[in-house]
Amino acid sequence: MASNSGDSRGLFSGNLGYILAVAGSAVGLGNIWRFPYLTAKYGGGIFLLIYFLLLFTFGYALIMAETSLGRKTRLSPVGAYRAFAGSKEHSFLKIGGWLNAIVPMIILPYYCLIGGWIVKYMFEYLTGGSTSAAADGFFVGFITSNFVPVFWHLLFLGCTALIILKGVQKGVERASVVMMPILLVLAVIVAVYSMTRPGAGAGIAYYLIPDFSKFSLMTVVAACGQLFFSLSVGMGILITYGSYMKKDVDVEKATVRIGLMDTTVALLAGFMIIPAVFAFSGGDAAAVNAGPGLMFITIPKVFESMGMGSFIGAAFFVMVFFAALTSSISILETCVSTLTDELKWSRKRATLFMFFEAIALGVPCSLGFGAWDFISIAGLSILDMMDFLASSILCPLCALLTCLLIGRLVGIQKLIDEIKSTSAFRGEVVFRFCVTYLAPVILTLVFVSSVAATLGFIKI
Ligand code: ALA
Repeated sequence: MASNSGDSRGLFSGNLGYILAVAGSAVGLGNIWRFPYLTAKYGGGIFLLIYFLLLFTFGYALIMAETSLGRKTRLSPVGAYRAFAGSKEHSFLKIGGWLNAIVPMIILPYYCLIGGWIVKYMFEYLTGGSTSAAADGFFVGFITSNFVPVFWHLLFLGCTALIILKGVQKGVERASVVMMPILLVLAVIVAVYSMTRPGAGAGIAYYLIPDFSKFSLMTVVAACGQLFFSLSVGMGILITYGSYMKKDVDVEKATVRIGLMDTTVALLAGFMIIPAVFAFSGGDAAAVNAGPGLMFITIPKVFESMGMGSFIGAAFFVMVFFAALTSSISILETCVSTLTDELKWSRKRATLFMFFEAIALGVPCSLGFGAWDFISIAGLSILDMMDFLASSILCPLCALLTCLLIGRLVGIQKLIDEIKSTSAFRGEVVFRFCVTYLAPVILTLVFVSSVAATLGFIKI
């Protein structure tokens, strides 16, 4: 098995540095922007229930599997897969490494576009534009203005690339250490305010009480895609970060803490946004189904109704900016790691390449809301299509291939031994069952449903 000794590889400084960097990767737009709008769209409480069921079973198992695979091989996804699938038998599994490497390359462009929207709102709030940001039509006017959002996209992408150029430890770790705690405190303040608005109770009930009549196959597909997106599973990130993890970090403890942090922020984001949607629209179906714009339309109205709205609003968007940045850093870092490991490119060259790739694919995503809004598949915009392709089709496929790689070639016992070398590993039975049986079945179901939905056989 090829492996990298780690001498030439950047390493996180230890337990805390690792946890904060991975939590920084996990907690991002997926929690604050994506989770609330999907929960609202796919039935509230029922979506939440499915999400939790998936999280505690194979969500946990897949984080452990990918992280320990990275730590064992000390390689980014392509190398980690090749280390085991290099022989002729099952060599088709090598494709899994490349798929894991391609997913973050698809996510980065639109992630940075949404990051750019955040920068725009942050700028509005910091420069006293809170009232105009809360006005009806502000968000739609902004995203349909073709190249204007691209300017903000470039700013966000530029910040991400600069941090990456500074290297793993200096850039990623230091940024995460400062940003995470601020994020949690601000999220609690905004959530409490939102939940105490008149009319918010109906939103809290919608969010927490499952309505089984709203269940469909797409609830599972969407919840699964959200789980992948939010936990950074099936996109090469955890394999790459695992490869930077020192041999003395307790993988299980770190995973549980990261999962807890990620879920807490997602839940808080739901409490910030869903009750507010009900308080400000009375539960109007159009408002509940607003899709990717939900946060940008609803949250400014919350701030506008607050006494110190512009101050809290500015703090909120600064917080979301930090959260998004630590995640985009991990997405870009994974792409760069693949290019430097596989093509032997310098870090600078790989970062520049990804910078231009993210512009080339980010611009169509932006135009998809403006001049190119006639382009759509199954009613999805270009951005939604890329998101669906990455998180609902490719991430489950990557995770499925990882389970096959572990089951057929690595041998689950080897990963268990790797985890046990530094953990008590209380969840061993769940891990073994999920990676061997449960995850492959559910992932196949999700993958087939997603493809059927794309082909128009199921309604998205
Ligand atoms: N896991 C990252 C997020 O949730 C990509 O934003």
